[in-house]
Amino acid sequence: MTDEPRILIRRAGPLQGEITIPGAKNSVLKLMAATLLADGEYTLTNVPDIADVGIMADLLAAIGVSSEVVQPGTLRLVNHGNITPVAPYELVERIRASINVLGPLLGRFGRVSLSLPGGDDFGSRPIDMHLTALEAMGAVFEFRHGVVEATADRLHGASITLEFPSVGATENIVTAAVYAKGTTVLDNAAREPEIGDLCNFLVGMGAQIEGIGTSTLTVHGVEPGELKAITHAVVADRIQAATYLAAVAVCGGEVVLRGARADHMEMLLRRFHDMGLVVTSAGVGPTSSLAVFAPQRLRSVDVATLPYPGIATDYKPLIVTMLSVADGVGIVTENLYPGRFRYVEELQRLGADIRADGHHAVVRGVAQLSGAPVRAPDIRAGAALVVAGLAADGETSMTGVHHVDRGYDDLVGRLASLGADIERVD
Ligand code: EPU
Repeated sequence: MTDEPRILIRRAGPLQGEITIPGAKNSVLKLMAATLLADGEYTLTNVPDIADVGIMADLLAAIGVSSEVVQPGTLRLVNHGNITPVAPYELVERIRASINVLGPLLGRFGRVSLSLPGGDDFGSRPIDMHLTALEAMGAVFEFRHGVVEATADRLHGASITLEFPSVGATENIVTAAVYAKGTTVLDNAAREPEIGDLCNFLVGMGAQIEGIGTSTLTVHGVEPGELKAITHAVVADRIQAATYLAAVAVCGGEVVLRGARADHMEMLLRRFHDMGLVVTSAGVGPTSSLAVFAPQRLRSVDVATLPYPGIATDYKPLIVTMLSVADGVGIVTENLYPGRFRYVEELQRLGADIRADGHHAVVRGVAQLSGAPVRAPDIRAGAALVVAGLAADGETSMTGVHHVDRGYDDLVGRLASLGADIERVD
């Protein structure tokens, strides 16, 4: 027995009830970074209560933007105009989204000193697309002792085609382009809903962006000083929503997810339909909701991850978990991250029949998983192991809870409110 926090999960009967889906981690962190673009007081609502928001707040505080949670779900950020464009190692290494301060700082101040996490060199560090694009806009980079020093007099517009629709690169290019001289046209841009949320936030601040939601973004630079601080509601988290859909899928039951957006999850919902889940949506935009009803047993399907609007890599551990108890065999192909199958061994400990090799996993559904001690290797895999525990006989005790805390707002409380047998032991 260790003192490490754990989540204890026992097999749950059908889940019933309603929950509200919090704002998206992968949007709020980028919106927070974008407050570097203009002085003033910002209010973000629908902010999830997750550890990564606190880490990003610490990073911004070191740079010169203070923030406080004024009430649950509402974050006020104040950019006092006293910015030091230096992102120190101790903070940067804690969170990948820290790379998102690069675009705003470079675009507004023309210089940034950004530590990069880890000790290896540029070659193995996948921000090459960010840097190549910003170079095309006039930035100059020097890499010394694990720190990228970026400078630019004033960035200028450019025509950029990404080799791959990278989420982070798209965000950094757009936030750099809003103050660039002239027009930037970005082709093969990523078009995840969180990028749409960031673009809408920037437009609310006064930026000129066309093509939001498409793979060609056109940004007409405005003069420095033309953007202003605003109030904005963070888009609902499609990955957290999918987590609760997966929980109902393996436990049975009928649940309503308030705030969840079918229009942001279309491909996934099609696959879930093929597996036998009945999901109906109501309302539009932020007032929308999803109702889910689970079949007696899921059917297996094949799934491949792709950039949006394809099925997100972040859904994959949930899908593999669902296939673990489905009727038949499913093949899951990962197209974004090499070797993102680390959680498979943990699912095998629960009795799942999975063969993973390179980019592929073959999942043979079993009639019953069996509870065991497991460790979350990362945030999405952690959530998937919790879902698997709900379908497993006996008790599953999961450590590595800090990973889940990074991006899930009260996963345990929300599942418990739906009738799951789950508790957190700190
Ligand atoms: N890549 C490069 N070079 C680059 C940029 C990316 O080779 O310059 C590669 C990456 O190594 C990776 C792939 O391209 O293999 C995708 O990277 P992308 O830039 O699209 O992802 P990201 O911005 O680093 C975000 C999310 C991830 C999510 C991916 C893909 C945040 C903070 N992270 O990462 O979310 O998996 O997009 O959708 O927004 C998570 O939330 O748990 C998470 C990992």
